[in-house]
Amino acid sequence: MSNVEAIARPAPEAEAEDPHVNGMAAYDALVAEAEADYAGYWARLAREFVTWKTPFTRSLDDSNAPFFKWFEDGTLNVSYNCLDRNVERGLGNKVAIVFEADDGQVTRVTYSDLLARTCRLANALKARGVRKGDRVVIYMAMSVEGVVAMQACARIGATHSVVFGGFSAQSLRDRIEGAGAVMVITADEQARGGKHLPLKAIVDDAIALGGCESVKDVIVYRRTGGPIDWQPSRDHWMHEETEGQPEVCEPEWVGAEHPLFLLYTSGSTGKPKGVQHSTGGYLLHAALTTKWTFDLKDDDVFWCTADIGWVTGHTYIAYGPLALGATEVVFEGVPSYPDAGRFWQMIQDHQVSVFYTAPTAIRSLIKLAEGDAAVHPARYDLSSLRILGSVGEPINPAAWEWYHRHVGGGRCPIVDTFWQTETGGHMITPLPGATPLVPGSCTLPFPGIAAAIVDETGNDVPHGQGGILVVKKPWPSMIRTIWGEAERFRSSYFPPELKGYYLAGDGAIRDAETRYFTITGRIDDVLNVSGHRMGTMEIESALVACTDLVAEAAVVGRPDDTTGEAICAFVVLKRARPTGDEAKKIATELRNWVGREIGPIAKPKEIRFGDNLPKTRSGKIMRRLLRSLARDEAITQDTSTLENPAVLAQLAEKN
Ligand code: WT7
Repeated sequence: MSNVEAIARPAPEAEAEDPHVNGMAAYDALVAEAEADYAGYWARLAREFVTWKTPFTRSLDDSNAPFFKWFEDGTLNVSYNCLDRNVERGLGNKVAIVFEADDGQVTRVTYSDLLARTCRLANALKARGVRKGDRVVIYMAMSVEGVVAMQACARIGATHSVVFGGFSAQSLRDRIEGAGAVMVITADEQARGGKHLPLKAIVDDAIALGGCESVKDVIVYRRTGGPIDWQPSRDHWMHEETEGQPEVCEPEWVGAEHPLFLLYTSGSTGKPKGVQHSTGGYLLHAALTTKWTFDLKDDDVFWCTADIGWVTGHTYIAYGPLALGATEVVFEGVPSYPDAGRFWQMIQDHQVSVFYTAPTAIRSLIKLAEGDAAVHPARYDLSSLRILGSVGEPINPAAWEWYHRHVGGGRCPIVDTFWQTETGGHMITPLPGATPLVPGSCTLPFPGIAAAIVDETGNDVPHGQGGILVVKKPWPSMIRTIWGEAERFRSSYFPPELKGYYLAGDGAIRDAETRYFTITGRIDDVLNVSGHRMGTMEIESALVACTDLVAEAAVVGRPDDTTGEAICAFVVLKRARPTGDEAKKIATELRNWVGREIGPIAKPKEIRFGDNLPKTRSGKIMRRLLRSLARDEAITQDTSTLENPAVLAQLAEKN
């Protein structure tokens, strides 16, 4: 998806009244401050944005690179910063969360309520023996209880690992085992798009798969009342556990480097990586970016449509907005239910002023609005909006224009925020009221972030030339390690040839004139499907795990109008190559298999069969050819080194 041409388009000025970062001169001044005294800049902000129990005396500690430490001797508690601090500031009766359920029912939770609920659950967790440093897996859908569970873990110093509710029992099992979790917090079921889908049953299956012996208790939030199995010695209802627990719970004051959470994400090789985040540096960047990138003010209503199962839901639902004492919308359902006007209806009903969503959602809503005028944003009063955001994948200029015009009424700046699970918060993004916008470009680094584009040896490439996106200096919210895999952390993110720079895994280009960044896509075997990150190797492993059927499999991505990228799998069966109806039947079977192994988000959109895969004489799969085949392009590459050119015709055939 090349949006490099977009860079030449006219740039509408970002507008915002009295913005926190007021104009490019203010942006430049912050950049200059960070350049002049890097550690001092971050220390100033860490004092401004975070309330410390014990103040830190050191900012950055880079003595053991790449295992950087920030504000290490300071102590704090994230839940204190998000809840008590706001109540103490007189915001106790302010609405923290406007929760809208799948069926449209709305619940409002004030800061005082949220604090009381967090304390009661925190006390309940302690009563079950959860201690500082223990890992707790949270496998829940979007709910107030999900946010409360995260805050309760933070309150007692337990490290949470939220697993997206769309992951399968097998994936959940791997994450429980990887984290060595002592507890799983889940719900009986989740309500999505008018349907009830299992959660507790999947936890049961995950634990039954084995390897989860560390789990002593499962806490179950009753969401639907649907039928579930019950193991009395292990399973406990959340409402019974919290009943009678005091509404006060002294926060566990932890060191700034204490792991607040792990979040598993896909890499190009091997099993998903347990990205470990800190407490102090993470909270700083969550609060700071929420304030500056969204120009968030006290009377804003903020809505991030992400799920708490992804990092966006951590930083911009569970932590950032609450640290600022904001009012935010939390939505249980899906954008297309009961119809594709749901987002616009909710913006109107809740007077949302800052709206943050993913390009894939916008693209699918464009399609639906074009087919049905009744769900077009023009039918709703969206005048409360003042800022729009985009995250997770490149936003193509056409979707950008539609979002700007039809959702933002031509008035709202769009912040195209580039970042990653590993970065904890925004890295490259416009700031409303400062940065002139260019559709398709995430524009300039957040002040203090040393983003750059280099070649394979770590040398800067000239502007206008594509290269590898790196970050040259450590920053407070960066990944600290991969849980239990320090060497993998070092080799994945700090390869020796890149001079100690952080390797993002994306390609990028800077415009020669504006210096703006445009992300050109992953440079590794990681796909981005609907803003969800998937490793091709992970899907290949899932396919070949179907040992009755599959001999060999290779997975590549191809551009897709709605999902950004689509998963295309090339499969060699242990039996003869199927054709016609049989091929369709086996493809469906394999798609469902991958759904069970990883989760529905990993199901290949297309599966093609061959007697073999295109290989060189040394047996290496020629993925470049597979990418061309997946795009239905004519093969123009040199195929003379190919051992078995005949399979190309087979693999070009669709089922
Ligand atoms: C990958 C990170 C960021 C939180 C959600 C995804 C891609 C993310 C953008 C953007 C172009 C983007 C990159 C990145 N990406 N935001 N604004 N423009 N690409 O987090 O699952 O860790 O995925 O998403 O490829 O590396 P994630």
